[in-house]
Amino acid sequence: MSRLIVVSNRTPGKTVAAGGLAVALRKTLSEREGFWFGWSGKLTDSPSVQARFEDVEGLSVATIDLTRDDHQAYYAGFSNSILWPSFHLRLDLAHIDSTWYEGYRRVNQQFAQALLPLLKPDDVIWVHDYHLIPLASELRSLGATNRMGFYLHIPFPTADALYAIPHHLDLMRDVSRYDLVGMQANRDVAAFTEAVENMTHTNLAGDPLQLFDFARTEVAAFPIGSDPGAFSRMSVSSAASKMVKRMERVLAGQQLILGVDRLDYSKGLPQRVEAYEKLLENNNDLRRRVHMLQIAPPSRDTIKEYQETSDALDAICGRVMGRFADPDWAPITYVKRAYGQATLAGFYRMARVGLVTPLRDGMNLVAHEFISSQNPADPGVLVLSRFAGAAEIFEDAILVNPFDTDETAAALRLALVMPLEERKARWRTLMAAAEKHNVDDWSKGFLHRLSPVVAAPSQPARDIIYLG
Ligand code: G6P
Repeated sequence: MSRLIVVSNRTPGKTVAAGGLAVALRKTLSEREGFWFGWSGKLTDSPSVQARFEDVEGLSVATIDLTRDDHQAYYAGFSNSILWPSFHLRLDLAHIDSTWYEGYRRVNQQFAQALLPLLKPDDVIWVHDYHLIPLASELRSLGATNRMGFYLHIPFPTADALYAIPHHLDLMRDVSRYDLVGMQANRDVAAFTEAVENMTHTNLAGDPLQLFDFARTEVAAFPIGSDPGAFSRMSVSSAASKMVKRMERVLAGQQLILGVDRLDYSKGLPQRVEAYEKLLENNNDLRRRVHMLQIAPPSRDTIKEYQETSDALDAICGRVMGRFADPDWAPITYVKRAYGQATLAGFYRMARVGLVTPLRDGMNLVAHEFISSQNPADPGVLVLSRFAGAAEIFEDAILVNPFDTDETAAALRLALVMPLEERKARWRTLMAAAEKHNVDDWSKGFLHRLSPVVAAPSQPARDIIYLG
C-alpha cells in the first residue's frame, strides 16, 4: 500500500488539542505507513528549508518553522482574517487586505519546497483545510505527480462571499489541481457547484469562456465523524469520573446544560447565553434547577475579533449572573480552558442538554461526541444549530436557528422536560447516525476514492469543466 502523507497547518502535539482535526487524523495515520507534515509551532527570523522529523506518541511528524512575518500574513491574516470569516459568511468581520495573500502564497511555497524532497512517487498526499488550498498547485509546479486530495473542514461559502476574497480565482484554480476534494456537507458541494457555475462567463457569441479545468477533480461530500466507541468508553472511564464526581457534588441534582466550543465568533456563544438568559427569564420554575456550563478554550487571540467575542461573552455571562444568581446559586459557569477528551466525555454524559448552536459550522464534532458519550438508559438531548453540517446527519436532534434566541430558549425548555422514552428514542437514532458516520470510515472512504487503484475515472467525475 502506498504511503500516506497528511499535511495540515497544525500537527498533532503533546498538549490538549482545541480543534477536532488532530483527533480525527491521528488514528488513520497510526494504521498506515507515512508521516504528518506541517508547521512546527515555532517562529524564527529566517524560514526553515528542511523539515525536522520527530516521533509524537508513535506518529512520525515532520515540521518546518515559519518566519514571524510570514506567519502573521498567512495564519492570522489571510487564513483567519479573510478566509475563515468569509467562508463562515461573516464578511462584516473580514479584513480584506490583499497584501496578506503574498505571505499566504509564500508559506504554501515553503511547505511545498520542504515536502517535495521527502516524497516518493506513489505517496498519496492528503492536505487539510483552508490554510493550504494552494499546496497542490505549488507541489505540481515543482514537478510532483502524486495523487493529491484536499479536505475542507469548514463550510464552503456562497458565491457572493467567495467573490469578496482577494485572489479567489487563483484559489479556485488551486482547488482544481487536486484529484479529490472533500467537503463536510451536501450544502457545501452545492455552494461550490453554484460558485463554479457563476464563474462561467460567456463571450459575445454566447460561448462559455472556460476559466478552470475541473475535469480531473472529483468534488464530493465526506461528512467527518468521531470515534463513538471511544467516547462511550471514555465517558465512564476512571479518567472521566474524577471530574464527574466533583461536578455532581456541585450540581446536587440540578440539570446540566453543556456547551463546549473553541472561543470563536462562528460558534454563536453570546447568542447561546442570551437564549439561556431568556429561558431563566420565562421559566421561574427552572431557576435553581438548572445550571449551564460553557467550556470555551481561547483561540486565535491575537486577532481583534476574537478578543471582542471573548469580551462579549464575559459581559453576557456577567449579566446573567447579575440578574439571576443568589448567594447560594450560580446559574452559569464559564470556563476558558481546554480539557482532555476523557474529561469532556464525562461532562457530556452528565449533561441533560448538549447545546451546540454555531451560527455556521463545517460539521461540529462536539455534537458527535456528545451523542456518543450518553448513557443509553438515561440519555441527554442534543439542541443543534440548523447551520452546522451535523444538522444533515442528526435530524433527530432539536434543530434551532441560533440567531433566534427565543427559539433556542424554547428548545432548551423542551429538552429539559422531555420524557425519558422520547429521549431514548431520539438518542437511539442519533447514535446510529454517529456510528454510521464514524471517523474511521470517513478517512477510509476518502482515501479509497483517492487511492491510485480506483483513481482516474475515464469520464470526468463531475461535469464542471472550465478550461483556462
Ligand atoms: C478548526 C479548523 C482547523 C483548526 C482548528 C483550531 O477546526 O478547521 O483547521 O486547526 O479550528 O484552530 P487553530 O487556528 O487554533 O488551529
